[in-house]
Amino acid sequence: MKTQTYDVVVVGAGAAGMMCAIEAGRRGRSVRVVDHASKPGEKIRISGGGRCNFTNTGTSVANFLGENPRFAASALGRYTQADFVKRVDGAGIAWHEKTLGQLFCDDSAKQIIRMLTDDMRAAGVLLSLGVGVERVDRVGDGFALALTDGSAVRCASLVVATGGKSIPKMGATGWGYELARQFGLRVTETRPALVPLTFEPGLLEKTAPLSGLAVDAVVSAGKTKFEEAMLFTHRGLSGPAILQISSYWREGEAITVKMAPGVDVLARLKAAKQENGGKQAVHTALGHIVPRRLAEVLTAREGANGKLAEVGDKVLARLDQAVNAWTVKPVGSEGYRTAEVTLGGVATDQLDQTTMETKSVPGLYFIGEVVDITGWLGGYNFQWAWSSGWAAGQAC
Ligand code: FDA
Repeated sequence: MKTQTYDVVVVGAGAAGMMCAIEAGRRGRSVRVVDHASKPGEKIRISGGGRCNFTNTGTSVANFLGENPRFAASALGRYTQADFVKRVDGAGIAWHEKTLGQLFCDDSAKQIIRMLTDDMRAAGVLLSLGVGVERVDRVGDGFALALTDGSAVRCASLVVATGGKSIPKMGATGWGYELARQFGLRVTETRPALVPLTFEPGLLEKTAPLSGLAVDAVVSAGKTKFEEAMLFTHRGLSGPAILQISSYWREGEAITVKMAPGVDVLARLKAAKQENGGKQAVHTALGHIVPRRLAEVLTAREGANGKLAEVGDKVLARLDQAVNAWTVKPVGSEGYRTAEVTLGGVATDQLDQTTMETKSVPGLYFIGEVVDITGWLGGYNFQWAWSSGWAAGQAC
């Protein structure tokens, strides 16, 4: 079989891979993108509840984790959130800011995929779907690839954009990490992130009546805290505040939760006790501060089922603690099955921060989530995919 030759082969037709292919194609490079999935950009399609939170207006390195988050500064600074918004506007895609700088499509995430596939076509990029990579060898200054369709491909630049391990059901693999190791590159420890946290059965029994309840909360792990919505689930805790803290939490550690942030619960309960001779039921008074279902569960747990006048201030102080200093040890997370991203990946000290090219293997690039750069929830991960893909696309 005849070997096909391209300037650039990109493995992975996700956010980062498509962005890189467009930019390289626009520079006149011959580019082929291969992806083992049957459609491009599947994670874009399901992102943001189908509306794709495609960037965040406040993106900076402070919103990223990794061994050295500052590595991301170059790409994020050269291809910014404003640059991506300009591209979205240029494609006539309507969008809105939901909250905290998070930008979503008004209509559908599929519009972002269409914009990228249209741009790839216009840039002359060849997209091969349903095709994986069987083997990669270094040949001279370039690479020889054996593809799963039995064909052979040569390229000067090989760009790895295969993402992380999250949601294996959608085609996520650890292939990018394995390839990095094949070429002697260091890969940092990977773990699921932006993921719901789970409780052990004994604790679950206590929180089960709260399943489905959402509260605004401040959730902390060590020195890091997030104030967003938190959701009780039948497995433990979820919601944006928990997904955010999951990237910082480690097994064996506790998290601290305030479910009435900024409210002096004890002072409010004591004040309520002074009114009408303390005739109000404790759970009613607490139900003015936190959702009623939560108030009922907490008062029952503290044995404070009666009227305010019947309970001492010590019990009220315990309720205050239960609401605003709840310290709880999750037993684990829901894992890669539901994690939005993978923490860790190809070590940034192995890469050039301007081009994303590996320092020891000229022509080999890593972009997007496969790199040890992980964003918070809120559009930061896509911005990293666009920025790192753009940066490699200028160089490969
Ligand atoms: P991505 O995973 O997108 O693409 C990798 C591609 O490589 C895939 O097409 C895959 O099929 C292919 N591939 C993998 N292994 C391969 C192999 N061996 N051979 C060939 N092809 C291979 N982020 C955000 O900023 N805003 C949001 O709203 C959301 N929402 C969201 C929801 C859900 C449910 C998830 C799971 C994730 C998010 N994210 C997000 C995170 C975001 O989707 C993620 O960070 C980016 O998609 C990463 O882009 P990449 O291009 O690096 O990988």
